[in-house]
Amino acid sequence: MLQLANKRILLGISGGIAAYKSAELVRILTKAGANVRVVMTQGAKEFITPLTLQALSGNPVHHTLLDEEAEAGMGHIELARWADLILIAPATADLIAKLAAGMGDELLTTLVLASKAPLFLAPAMNQQMWAAATTQQNLRTLADLKGDDFALFGPDSGVQACGDVGPGRMLEPTDIASLLAQRFQPGLLTGCKVVITAGPTREALDPVRYISNHSSGKMGYALAQAAVDAGAQVTLISGPVRIPAPDRVTLVNTISAQDMLEASLATMGNCDLFIASAAVADYRPANVAEQKIKKAGDEIQLTLTKNPDIVATIANHQQRPATVVGFAAETTDVDGYARGKLASKNLDMIVANDVSRSDIGFNSDDNAVTLYSREGHQDFERMSKTLLATKLIQTFAERLRNLREH
Ligand code: C5P
Repeated sequence: MLQLANKRILLGISGGIAAYKSAELVRILTKAGANVRVVMTQGAKEFITPLTLQALSGNPVHHTLLDEEAEAGMGHIELARWADLILIAPATADLIAKLAAGMGDELLTTLVLASKAPLFLAPAMNQQMWAAATTQQNLRTLADLKGDDFALFGPDSGVQACGDVGPGRMLEPTDIASLLAQRFQPGLLTGCKVVITAGPTREALDPVRYISNHSSGKMGYALAQAAVDAGAQVTLISGPVRIPAPDRVTLVNTISAQDMLEASLATMGNCDLFIASAAVADYRPANVAEQKIKKAGDEIQLTLTKNPDIVATIANHQQRPATVVGFAAETTDVDGYARGKLASKNLDMIVANDVSRSDIGFNSDDNAVTLYSREGHQDFERMSKTLLATKLIQTFAERLRNLREH
């Protein structure tokens, strides 16, 4: 069921007696790591309360189209865009008919119309209604219209709530969840925990001043996005940056190197891959003045003291993650310094870039790097940080897979 990790599932519930099973379905999907948002039809609320589903999904339940307050939270178009997939369980004959006709009479039908996400239905209805030519025709219409982006899960056959025997029972929630999981290939990092440091650190001099650097955080944030896309559970420990955090990561905001070290130690438990892309200040002011330092003579002396080396601390820790990757931004002898840091910090890999080049690096959207490991090195020509992040994550994932297999 790991395939469902990080998936954004919009679970539609329509008004049938099988709706009581939807509560269990929400629990299973959430446990598998999916982010579930429940949308109920008016009929569904006659069978199960929104409160139950809200408690189980951990998200507000959506059920009205024309509610100002609900639209101010996550409007229906936003919700339609948010979804990676729409699963409707139970899907009644009435709801299926409305979907086939392209109606948008309430929130759930409108969302299906407004979303490009794949649609999966777990039908539940009386066996005669299931067998009805109109129901079957409606299902064919939906299948034709949505192609590969449509599938039916069930229905099951057996004794029905009304006493009839035949096809029309909703599949059990565990079966629905496994059928859904089968639709997705596991990502390269599915089941892995990844911790990434990113951005600069700020080292306070006094209450208003600090020492910092030009790191934008773009490379680390792109790596976080690529790791999430590969199915990992990602914690992003970030210094102060001006870019938004990618979706679906756990963001830990930090300021100084000391903060970043504490956050790294606190989150490294069970981590498979630790990536240190932060530009950590090597030194911090030995004393932080309690009051703003006043202008005085022509010169001022600052005494700096060495910061802890975060990645080296993690790489030499008793609970060392299986793979620890560092970054090296160099202006001269990139090769020599990168190899030196690989060894001295006890890293498995180091990504080196030449920041003396004006076309790439700190604030740029592009980068060109060389990845060093004990076994050798690999060049990555200039490309966008987004694409580079995807390629680097693939390489790290390959190393993790090899470690697991040997
Ligand atoms: O600053 P330096 O070139 O040594 O950085 C190399 C690597 O070490 C980078 O991955 C950086 O994130 C990490 N580092 C760290 N803590 C420090 C200094 C650097 O984790 N105090």
